Amino acid sequence: MDLGLNGKTAFVAGASSGLGRAIAKELLQEGCRVAICSRRQDRIHDAALWLREVTGCAVDHILPLVCDVTKEQDIRHAIDKTIKAFGGLNLLVTNAGGPPTGLIDDLDAKTWRSALELNLISTINMCRIALPALRVSAANHASILMVSSLSAKQPITSLYLSNVSRAGVQGFAKGLSEEIGPEGITVNTILPGYTKTDRLSHLSESLNAQTGTPIDEIEAGWAASSALKRIGTEDEFAAAATFLLSARASFITGQAVVVDGGAVKSIL
Ligand SMILES: NC(=O)c1ccc[n+]([C@@H]2O[C@H](COP(=O)([O-])OP(=O)(O)OC[C@H]3O[C@@H](n4cnc5c(N)ncnc54)[C@H](OP(=O)(O)O)[C@@H]3O)[C@@H](O)[C@H]2O)c1
Repeated sequence: MDLGLNGKTAFVAGASSGLGRAIAKELLQEGCRVAICSRRQDRIHDAALWLREVTGCAVDHILPLVCDVTKEQDIRHAIDKTIKAFGGLNLLVTNAGGPPTGLIDDLDAKTWRSALELNLISTINMCRIALPALRVSAANHASILMVSSLSAKQPITSLYLSNVSRAGVQGFAKGLSEEIGPEGITVNTILPGYTKTDRLSHLSESLNAQTGTPIDEIEAGWAASSALKRIGTEDEFAAAATFLLSARASFITGQAVVVDGGAVKSIL
């Protein structure tokens, strides 16, 4: 299937590793020009080098940018640089790191605010700031994909911060899809289940420190919670994300697509 992504331009946030970098890889392989961002210069430059190597893309197809998505000014600069380098923007992927674990007595107001800044406010700001450029591209395909979490559908004990901020993302995405649907821009969320990345390793280490449960037992429990009885890979996640961003998904909007090997147990 030709996804119709050849020659399109994309901004992928939180892309020095993990799910963001995997989406960037797929988009490059489809012929997109892709701006990738993260907070740390060394990591985002290493990611750009790695992406060039594995995809064989032209040097000017990948633009590494330092941008902390919790800072509005950083987002403005990064989106501006992307538009200047690529001449426009078709695809926006909102993404960042995940919040810490903790139960109700572990989390103070400052920690709650930081988590909402990291996963909810950053998403809203990226969409607000990129929207004018996406509107210009709409006749030639424009799409927004927000990386959320399975915790938006099935809250995870000890991941309160994720459960709450992702619920906000889902509400924002649905409203935005209604508002800008008439302009031809699709808006979807993608909800990863347990997927092997740095984030998942940090999560198991943190739970191990809090509960004493061995890391391999924690990971075996995650695998067992899915219908497929395993943890997912970045590439499996990125394939679904790339389809949702593609021209072939042009009648899919306002949807929350779970990529979790069947871990969420609800029928719908
Ligand atoms: N992997 C899973 O199993 C899973 C499951 C459900 C939900 N999720 C969610 O999916 C998202 C991505 O997860 P992942 O597994 O890919 O995590 P990851 O491997 O830790 O990657 C996170 C990426 O985001 C960047 N980042 C972190 N904070 C940022 C900020 N403030 N501004 C810009 N970039 C930032 C990191 O780079 P720098 O450090 O260089 O900034 C890194 O490139 C997270 O929100 C996570 O909670 C993941």
